[in-house]
Amino acid sequence: MLCRYWPAALFIIVMTIPAAPPPGVEQRIAALLSRMTLEEKLGQMSQSTSMRTPLSDPIREEIRKGRWGSFLNAGSPADRAEAQRIARQESRLGIPLVFGRDVIHGYKTIFPIPLGQSASWNPDLMQQAARIAGIEASSEGIRWTFAPMIDIARDPRWGRIAESLGEDPYLTSVLGAAMVRGFQTESLSSASAIAASAKHYVGYGAAEAGREYNSTWIPEVLLRNVYLPPFQAARDAGVATFMTGFNALNGVPATGNRFILRKILREEWKYDGMVVSDYTAIPEMILHGYAADDRDAARKALAAGVDMEMVSTTYFDHLKALVATGQVDVKSIDNAVRNILRLKFRLGLFDESPGPAATAGITAAALDTAKRLATESVVLLKNDGNVLPLAKSIGKVAVIGPLADSPVDQMGMWVMDGRAEDVRTPLGVLREELGDGRVLYAPGVKTSRDSSRDGFQDALQKARLADVVLLFLGEEQILSGEAHSRAFLDLPGVQEALVEEIAKSGKPIVAVILAGRPLTFHNAAAKMNAILYAWHPGTMGGPAIADLLFGDSVPSGKLTTTFPRTVGQVPIYYAHLNTGRPAPANELGIPLGNPVNPVGYTSKYLDVDFTPEYPFGFGLSYTTFEYSDLRLSASRLRKGGRLTASAEVVNRGVREADEVVQLYIHQNAASVSRPVKELKGFRRVHLKPGEKAVVAFPITAEDLAFYNERAQLVTEPGTFHVWIAPDSTRGLEGEVTFE
Ligand code: BGC
Repeated sequence: MLCRYWPAALFIIVMTIPAAPPPGVEQRIAALLSRMTLEEKLGQMSQSTSMRTPLSDPIREEIRKGRWGSFLNAGSPADRAEAQRIARQESRLGIPLVFGRDVIHGYKTIFPIPLGQSASWNPDLMQQAARIAGIEASSEGIRWTFAPMIDIARDPRWGRIAESLGEDPYLTSVLGAAMVRGFQTESLSSASAIAASAKHYVGYGAAEAGREYNSTWIPEVLLRNVYLPPFQAARDAGVATFMTGFNALNGVPATGNRFILRKILREEWKYDGMVVSDYTAIPEMILHGYAADDRDAARKALAAGVDMEMVSTTYFDHLKALVATGQVDVKSIDNAVRNILRLKFRLGLFDESPGPAATAGITAAALDTAKRLATESVVLLKNDGNVLPLAKSIGKVAVIGPLADSPVDQMGMWVMDGRAEDVRTPLGVLREELGDGRVLYAPGVKTSRDSSRDGFQDALQKARLADVVLLFLGEEQILSGEAHSRAFLDLPGVQEALVEEIAKSGKPIVAVILAGRPLTFHNAAAKMNAILYAWHPGTMGGPAIADLLFGDSVPSGKLTTTFPRTVGQVPIYYAHLNTGRPAPANELGIPLGNPVNPVGYTSKYLDVDFTPEYPFGFGLSYTTFEYSDLRLSASRLRKGGRLTASAEVVNRGVREADEVVQLYIHQNAASVSRPVKELKGFRRVHLKPGEKAVVAFPITAEDLAFYNERAQLVTEPGTFHVWIAPDSTRGLEGEVTFE
């Protein structure tokens, strides 16, 4: 039996405090600083996108003069090598550049979108994926990625939910830290390490109404208990940089927010890494109504602790004058430059011999990891009559839908370097495996947003000739990601109508949904016999999906974000508070569109069930796991103590498979109401048919702690419920008292 175990306690043990810089680095920084002109310092604090292929003479000259400390998303590998050579050999002080890029879910080998990866609940595999991305990116001169995005996302309208690791602070903390370790390795100075960036600090995912860049209002209790923990975990994992958010947090733009940047990040967490603004976020503080002009914005961002300005040039243009008039102390500029130079020293950029590196191609091992991660990220939402897995002896399959053969969409948002020709689509793989004659393909619609029904007839005809219909539906890649919020969460275009049309064939329908967010498709789902939710699964999505369809692998992904029944329920998340009038279970199931007499003044809707369509932590398998025998090694816990909660999990089916076992807690009464359930541990276990595992989770006082109204981390005496569970709605329940 293979066990991968991620309880909170272990997580705390493996977190590493950022290594102290090797001896001498601070002295080298000080020596360099003492020789730098103010202009050179401001150059270091500036990051640009202006590098084009081929390197122009003006850019070469700017690099020579030390005008830029960093470039992002710019230039070819050869340009980057040449630019670095100029910086190192021809600039006055030889300070290297650092090249940043959005290497979000892979570089050349594209892994599932982060939301998909999180559904694997597999930090080891995500760490491996980040490592591969680091190797591929660093081989082309990229030593800094703007990932992981660890914004808690509880609103599927927000397009960037695709880039998030879901709605839960504990899971996001564990997975985000794993990604940091994967990108950065043990030592940032190893040639294939890339600096990670914890973004977007902080609260950006709470954009009002899910509308991109919108304001966020987050009381401090919520900020500390939900939005900050993943960032603190990233800091503890040694993340080299932080990126500020575009959002105004409680009325103060994150980029000029001294409370989060100075008080929490620098004073409380003692962070000594580098902080970069988001793209033009400094002058955007003018539009926020927080800065009067560029000069004011530069002053406020620096005062808050933003070290490097991304793309805009308010620092370079105004800080000199602000120093001259005494409005900015040169010491704060020196501090920022120190943080930037420290990053460059930590990356070993001063000691590297400049020159083009050997580009790392896509390896078989990388493809294998991409396939495993895609496989583990797929969530089986429905499997009526065990229509899945399909028998390999099945006659003909009809492959229908706009996403069966769409390599670019399959890669998902934020792909700058992945190539469509490297992607293996489900259609391609099914044709290879079954032979052309057994695969009847009709897209039905051209794209997910297509409004034409011209292709319906051909699709229905093919469905009628087949033994099973595989419907590849969902969202195109450009419907999620930054600035791609949606007000409706339905299957776009005429896809619902396509489902109805295909249902006329009377053939079993297996839907595979490729999307960047939870979608609502309640009525269409009723016509589907099975549903695999595959997100945008990346380069190896095709082989992963084919294996799942035919039972060469068994679904094991579980949702990391709650699926609403309708957009009107949003925001909906499992770790909500109970309210004074929670709706009881016997008030479930109010049919959509049929308001009932509001019997019982409880917290629910008249026109839709109050529960989600699919809950957090949910995912089916081709086997059945039975949970039994919950044991608590003690019923009382004291400060400094520890107990173990365990349960037996048995595979009652005929296939070997993984199960993600989850630990939840709830405190009955506290000085601040606690969520009805909170995830505190999880473990992926692999069990053969009939095999049993005793899954154990340590619980300590720290696991029961929360931030109170005075911003103190406390464990308050009281009764706690403990669940060991297959998802957030079920499980074996016990009780513990903290004294
Ligand atoms: C995004 C960041 C990204 C940056 C650089 C911004 O628009 O919000 O997440 O890293 O652009 O591309």
